[in-house]
Amino acid sequence: MGRYDLALIGFGGVNRALAELISQRGDRLAEELGFALRVVAITDLRAGSLIETDGIDLAPLLAVEPGELSFAGLPGGDADPRNEWVIREVPADIVVEATFTNPTDGEPACSHVRWALTAGKHVCTTNKGPVALAGRELGQLAAEHGVSFEFEGAVLSGTPILRTARRVFGGLEITGVQGIMNGTSNYILGRLEEGIDLPTAIAAAQELGYAEADPTADVEGHDVQLKLMILANHVLGADLCREDVFREGISHITPQDVRDAVSKGLRWKLVGSATRRADGTVEARVAPVALPGHHPLAGVSGPVNAVAFHTDLLGTVTVSGPGAGRIETAYALLSDIIAIHQRHHADDDTAPLPRVLQARVLQETHRG
Ligand code: HSE
Repeated sequence: MGRYDLALIGFGGVNRALAELISQRGDRLAEELGFALRVVAITDLRAGSLIETDGIDLAPLLAVEPGELSFAGLPGGDADPRNEWVIREVPADIVVEATFTNPTDGEPACSHVRWALTAGKHVCTTNKGPVALAGRELGQLAAEHGVSFEFEGAVLSGTPILRTARRVFGGLEITGVQGIMNGTSNYILGRLEEGIDLPTAIAAAQELGYAEADPTADVEGHDVQLKLMILANHVLGADLCREDVFREGISHITPQDVRDAVSKGLRWKLVGSATRRADGTVEARVAPVALPGHHPLAGVSGPVNAVAFHTDLLGTVTVSGPGAGRIETAYALLSDIIAIHQRHHADDDTAPLPRVLQARVLQETHRG
């Protein structure tokens, strides 16, 4: 059975949840997926770095409260994250980048991704910064080095929006996308409908773990702006930068506004939309919209997210699911690793396929 050695960059909620999945259900996953996963390096701003090329024993690390974890003093441990050295030098197959999103220049995550790709390592990331701000360049870099750059979790966590659009919609023309892509703002708008004021609703979203470290990114639409850039660039073939995407948040919407809308059969939603114009260019905007009750996004409530794809042959197809959460986002990383496996074994008939795929192939063979 094959195996992928992973270097985890950032050990906050998401990579820690991936480590939990590997530690708690690694054997089951290996049986199901046809390959094993082993963590050989972890780096973290606060905890430092830990390297064990024979595989890190994850259980004792996961038993320590996140804020109290320190790698200094452990065999292979150091107080310094040593990100560049770890990414370039530690023999790993896949670098899993899950540090914080920097919406201004994408750093340091952009550098992390560049170092890994130029060292011939696959990358999967949930970090919106590098994908939104340098996605095209990083995709080219990956191609030049014969490796993969995967980022499903950058939009709607584990809900497979990007991969659905790229793989499942073959033969369709996607003419536009419209989405509720921020769970925090959607949750807040729902609470405003109940008459709760904005600061109380924001505090509740933070308590529930939906909000970014700085909830301004959620409430003022910066988070959706990055996600919309990623969607438009990868699904509609656009090349948008932040200045190209109009942005307006929800902070000026009052409980009275949302209740007035509900009385008229409307619901305020923070909507990111991108549409292909007749000349082929793409117009993108993030703004609150009072949607009529019959709109496919009007019934999407709480932290749930959804993206409606407008297509030429199918009309509107809406995909809905979680848009945030540790485990949900860690699943996106797992789906990226599966995609890397499938891509790099596409012409290898002996490579085992994940069980779900096997079932479909067998069914098709049987039908044929
Ligand atoms: N803070 C984001 C949200 C989570 O509320 O949707 C991940 O992007």
